[in-house]
Amino acid sequence: MPNGTSSASPRRPWMATAIWGWRLELFLSFGTFLVLAVSTSLGSSGPLLVAAAMVLVLRQRPEIRRQLLHHVRINRDHRRLHAALWNCMVIGRNGSIPKVVRSAVLPVGQRYLLELPIGLHAQLLERSALELAAALGAREVRVKASPVNTRYVELAVIRSNAFPNVLRSPLVDRIEVSLWEPLTFGVGQDGLAISIGLPEHNLLIGGEPGSGKSVALSTIVAASALDPSVHLTLLDGKHVELVAWTDVADEFVGANQDEAVEVLEELRTIMDLRYETLAATRKRKMVSTDVEGLHVLVIDELAFYLRGGKKETRELFAELLRDLVSRGRAAGIIVIAATQKPSHEIVPTWIRDLFSFRLAMRCTSSDASDTILGQGWAAQGFSAASIDPATRGVGYLLAEGGVPTLIMTPYLSDDEIEVIADRAFEQRHSA
Ligand SMILES: Nc1ncnc2c1ncn2[C@@H]1O[C@H](COP(=O)(O)OP(=O)(O)OP(=O)(O)O)[C@@H](O)[C@H]1O
Ligand SMILES: [Mg+2]
Repeated sequence: MPNGTSSASPRRPWMATAIWGWRLELFLSFGTFLVLAVSTSLGSSGPLLVAAAMVLVLRQRPEIRRQLLHHVRINRDHRRLHAALWNCMVIGRNGSIPKVVRSAVLPVGQRYLLELPIGLHAQLLERSALELAAALGAREVRVKASPVNTRYVELAVIRSNAFPNVLRSPLVDRIEVSLWEPLTFGVGQDGLAISIGLPEHNLLIGGEPGSGKSVALSTIVAASALDPSVHLTLLDGKHVELVAWTDVADEFVGANQDEAVEVLEELRTIMDLRYETLAATRKRKMVSTDVEGLHVLVIDELAFYLRGGKKETRELFAELLRDLVSRGRAAGIIVIAATQKPSHEIVPTWIRDLFSFRLAMRCTSSDASDTILGQGWAAQGFSAASIDPATRGVGYLLAEGGVPTLIMTPYLSDDEIEVIADRAFEQRHSA
């Protein structure tokens, strides 16, 4: 027995499983038969009339048809899962397989909450994941232990690739957003949207050239721009990545270290003033109802400002950045920075370690991935070096969940950026 979970030879209860697995179909067939049998009392044409009425109802009421089909499909998927669990010998000590407590249809497959019989646990199930995927004819099977009760596991059966060539941004259709609300930052491998809450967090994005850092930044800048209460400060070492947002930004700095330092000094003054106001009103942090609004500092090509140029300028820049990242949280200041390689020679560790959220886009090595996500993640199987170089915009996001999640960020074309920037400009003026 692959799982080594039972000493007794388990016998699959064929009859009971078959009846239980086909219960919906049996109920529907029996119900139809009963109705037709009763309808003979209406005369010889009774069954024909009742059958015609049933067909008519199903034709006229597509929602009933859809519901029936949905349940029939769910039942079929459950039967397949049960068969796969038996065939792969995922069996507990009492000779039974895990029980499906809940199931949901994912955009790319199915997700089940399973209650495990005695003798099984998440790690044992994980060992059978590949075998289960093959038995189910799926692309992948993922197992996640319930964080609150180890008797339960979440099993995702992934049937298709959740990451398209290009993921359309939902922001293209949005008139206004609130950055205090969770921001949809991409989709996960199960095809479901992944959101992050930016207030009180800072985000560091790293990855090899062309991996999609600036594209990921554009989602955050677009969302910030569409919130008229948000102040935007943009620093762009390449000048061309964020220049489209100049009209909606309070400050825009291109490849100029001195100007960048000036802007950070202004931002530090703003931060200090906000703390004075908070202290005067005996509050500890800003909240969504405060009129000042969040202040988002976005830095693309962070390495440009921390390397080269005059020593005292880059040291001042580093110190200002450290101050903003470490003290900005309660004052509503959010720092989002992107750089190719945040190694300690480029981004001092005393700054890097302050970023609570990390996004590691494709990297050339597991070491580089660990530099972004933090030591030890690659050894646990979360390495951005394993990302297919052909799929741009995919990365491991380490945010609210506490464990890196593979996500794909949406892509905003130059035209879409222009449309959003114009809309944001109008919104801000009317506000
Ligand atoms: N999420 C995405 N969806 C689709 N294509 C993407 C995505 N992200 C990036 N790309 C493609 O990859 C290209 C490079 O992306 P981007 O400019 O964001 O890379 P980068 O990591 O900022 O590179 P560099 O370090 O050179 O600045 C884009 O022009 C686009 O064609
Ligand atoms: Mg870039």
